[in-house]
Amino acid sequence: MTSTVLKVTGLCAGYGRIEALRGVDLELKAGQLVALVGANGVGKTTLLRTISGLINARAGHVELLGQDITRLAAEQRVRAGLAQVLEGRQVFGPLSVLDNLRLGGYTHKPDPGRIEEMFNLFPILRTKKDQGAWQLSGGQQQMLAMARALMSRPKVLLLDEPSMGLAPLLIKEVFEVIKRLKDSGVPILLVEQNARAALAIADYAYVLETGSVSLSGPAAQLAADERVRSAYLGV
Ligand SMILES: Nc1ncnc2c1ncn2[C@@H]1O[C@H](COP(=O)(O)OP(=O)(O)OP(=O)(O)O)[C@@H](O)[C@H]1O
Ligand SMILES: [Mg+2]
Repeated sequence: MTSTVLKVTGLCAGYGRIEALRGVDLELKAGQLVALVGANGVGKTTLLRTISGLINARAGHVELLGQDITRLAAEQRVRAGLAQVLEGRQVFGPLSVLDNLRLGGYTHKPDPGRIEEMFNLFPILRTKKDQGAWQLSGGQQQMLAMARALMSRPKVLLLDEPSMGLAPLLIKEVFEVIKRLKDSGVPILLVEQNARAALAIADYAYVLETGSVSLSGPAAQLAADERVRSAYLGV
């Protein structure tokens, strides 16, 4: 039996009078890559931010490795094993690549070996380690953002639109990296507009429509579903 690493039940969150999440249930199992797809504004980012604690849940629960983390501060959730790459690759521009990575591990003991592991995973970052993050290309910044999140050796990784704004060649590269991360055993919850590419590498998937899950199932099954094909795959 595969164990559940992240479990979301009846999650509600919003902004003022806007109810952006209306009772979301979702599960991520050990070693899985789970894709969350949906149109603009349906609540994907809100869901990730509520899981990571940047937005308070109004109702429902988030459990990480069996621990209820719903009321923990975002930083405590990082310590508990949750890492998130925010939408729009928020790297620290003025800092060097190396310092960005050091910051990623700030909640934990200094771990120089981990930086080396990140350079092995993302060789391009080694060649640029002393350059300012602002000097990196969009795809390289995305890799830095992922490497930074991985510095804390997370038990679960949340990725929000890693392919956004990237040229096709870089999109391919970023998806290959995500696949490699999954194969290395990190469970990943991936939010993507690029539904086709996300479903192609995911084990399981959820479709979000205006704040709640409208469809879910094994990724291959959803990719073959007429409703998904016409609404999200342009078939
Ligand atoms: N800071 C905010 N203040 C008020 N409303 C917000 C805020 N952020 C998001 N919303 C609203 O909450 C809803 C969900 O937004 P969210 O950003 O979660 O969607 P999304 O699925 O990530 O969209 P996209 O694909 O465009 O990134 C939308 O109606 C949006 O307008
Ligand atoms: Mg979003």
